[in-house]
Amino acid sequence: MMLIDIDTLAKMISRTGLERFNVQLLERLEGDFAQWENFQKSPRHVTTYPHGVIELMPCANDEFYSFKYVNGHPANTGEGKLCVVAMGLLAEVQHGYPLMVCEMTLLTALRTAAVAALGAKYLARKNSRHLAIIGTGAQAEFQIHAMRAQLPIQQLSYFDVDPSAMDKFAHNMASLDVELLPCDSVAEAISAADVIVTATAARQQVALFDFDQLKPGVHIHAMGGDCSGKTEFSLELLQQCKVVVEYIPQTKHEGEIQQGDESLVYAELWQLITGKKDGRLNDQELTFFDSVGFALEDFSTLKLVYQLAKQMNLGEEVNLIPQLDDPKNLFGLLNAKN
Ligand SMILES: NC(=O)c1ccc[n+]([C@@H]2O[C@H](COP(=O)([O-])OP(=O)(O)OC[C@H]3O[C@@H](n4cnc5c(N)ncnc54)[C@H](O)[C@@H]3O)[C@@H](O)[C@H]2O)c1
Repeated sequence: MMLIDIDTLAKMISRTGLERFNVQLLERLEGDFAQWENFQKSPRHVTTYPHGVIELMPCANDEFYSFKYVNGHPANTGEGKLCVVAMGLLAEVQHGYPLMVCEMTLLTALRTAAVAALGAKYLARKNSRHLAIIGTGAQAEFQIHAMRAQLPIQQLSYFDVDPSAMDKFAHNMASLDVELLPCDSVAEAISAADVIVTATAARQQVALFDFDQLKPGVHIHAMGGDCSGKTEFSLELLQQCKVVVEYIPQTKHEGEIQQGDESLVYAELWQLITGKKDGRLNDQELTFFDSVGFALEDFSTLKLVYQLAKQMNLGEEVNLIPQLDDPKNLFGLLNAKN
């Protein structure tokens, strides 16, 4: 069985190129969302604590099965730990044998950003040039790289309640060919934006901004509110927007729409991709992707990484699955080792 650790993944992305990896990932996601009906899907299994969540996210088709372990602990960064860490597993379904165990902290950030770009492909104005991001923590730079691959972004305004997170973000974005606009408030950051990404972490319901602060035709990618009791917007704002989600049975408990009901939802993302429903129709409407992260996205990501690892001869073979001459003699493994 293959093990992909952080160093191996970083090597894979450096050899592929971040831009090219983002494009490949977006294409895989789009292809798999288009095959929506061929997947066995379920809302993720959530274990809830007062200070965070731990989740298991399975998804499968007739060839492969995957799951991800992921947490969400908003107060972690105060103790020098990541808010989100993850690991994933990919298996073949014919015999049910695991093929790969993989780091997924970096991959979650990459796939979450690729999903944002995919949503923007169908929902943002094609000529969106000004991107705003609220919350410049661990996910932020990934979001910008992926959005830039999709939209002609020239200005980037940003705000975080933590000035050091803004400095870190500015440092990491300095080499990009965009005008960086640090802001003193959410209101300032969003005032001229065509696309707004919200990536804040707080274990509470907040309203980052109101409907009347927006220009016509703005696309909002709301990714920070992703579990029960954790939202970034008011119900009133949602009611003014064309709201798209990944998977209603999960999002109705975890997304911004938990504040209302399913009638707030215009479409699931796969319906836009397959053409069953229209994406953006004109330059005036407000569009809103209530993205919480769905297991299919991790499935697509793990498959891509597995195939790239094979092509590039990366990854370490680890002895986690017994290889036996007599599959009934499992006990023999104990004798052999001692
Ligand atoms: N939808 C998804 O698929 C998905 C995937 C990964 C992470 N997330 C969520 O995205 C959020 C961000 O994740 P992260 O790993 O970047 O977390 P992080 O803790 O590294 O960063 C969050 C940032 O938000 C800032 N912040 C908090 N409240 C704010 C406010 N009111 N205004 C401005 N800034 C504010 C914090 O100071 C921090 O810098 C988390 O809530 C996480 O659970 C969602």
